[in-house]
Amino acid sequence: MSEPRVLLLGAPGAGKGTQSKRLAEEFGIEHVTTGDALRSNKDMDIGHMDTEYDTPRAYMEAGDLVPDAVVNEIVKTALQSADGYVLDGYPRNLDQAEYLSEITDLDAVVFLDVSQGELVDRLTGRRVCDDCGANYHVEFNPPETEGVCDDCGGELIQRDDDTEDTVRDRLEVYEENTEPVVDHYREAGVLVEVDGEGTPDEVFEAISDVVDDAAN
Ligand code: AP5
Ligand code: MG
Ligand code: ZN
Repeated sequence: MSEPRVLLLGAPGAGKGTQSKRLAEEFGIEHVTTGDALRSNKDMDIGHMDTEYDTPRAYMEAGDLVPDAVVNEIVKTALQSADGYVLDGYPRNLDQAEYLSEITDLDAVVFLDVSQGELVDRLTGRRVCDDCGANYHVEFNPPETEGVCDDCGGELIQRDDDTEDTVRDRLEVYEENTEPVVDHYREAGVLVEVDGEGTPDEVFEAISDVVDDAAN
């Protein structure tokens, strides 16, 4: 069959980015992530789209969702050039889920289950490479040299939205907008739930098994 089309769902900090990167390498598919796309274009002018603010930055720094019109367009463009993919950070509300169903089919929908307390610890301790975007954690996944990326030697920084206050806002936005999306796929009978609290290797094994099954 053609390359697998995988949707990875989970709360902020569940490990979507960490696992998507590995899945993309392992299965030779695209990593499509609205979060990274928006971070690279925080100051793009979205005023013509009839939005409350003129750039994604204002929404992101508050932990709010960027308007659907903006993210729908990003995903549509990215999926057009992808055969297989792992989708990370989208859909985040029911309208986005509806839009997604109009533009593609999915082979596997995986939900990474992680408890609230663990999410806060993961997010406030996360560090990301300013050059290549690799993810680290000061305690759970430290780089060999503090502050330096193992992969490319770039500087490790803290994301603007990984402060404790914004993390709490993001988790609230998730509960309100994105948990209904998880329920939607669960009710449709397509959701596979994976324990996201194992080691990164254990979690990767579990997701890979699901993707292998879907591809066969
Ligand atoms: P986005 O970038 O998507 O952020 P998020 O959903 O909040 O998710 P994170 O990236 O914080 O978490 P993750 O699940 O990727 O975890 P990670 O692997 O890094 O979105 C940011 C913002 O953009 C949104 O707030 C919104 O404003 C906007 N946006 C994006 N998409 C949008 C959309 N569709 N609609 C509207 N707006 C949108 O892991 C976290 C940490 O834990 C790391 O430090 C990692 O090293 C560590 N870790 C990972 N796995 C493990 C493990 N198994 N054990 C221990 N530690 C682990
Ligand atoms: Mg991420
Ligand atoms: Zn790097």
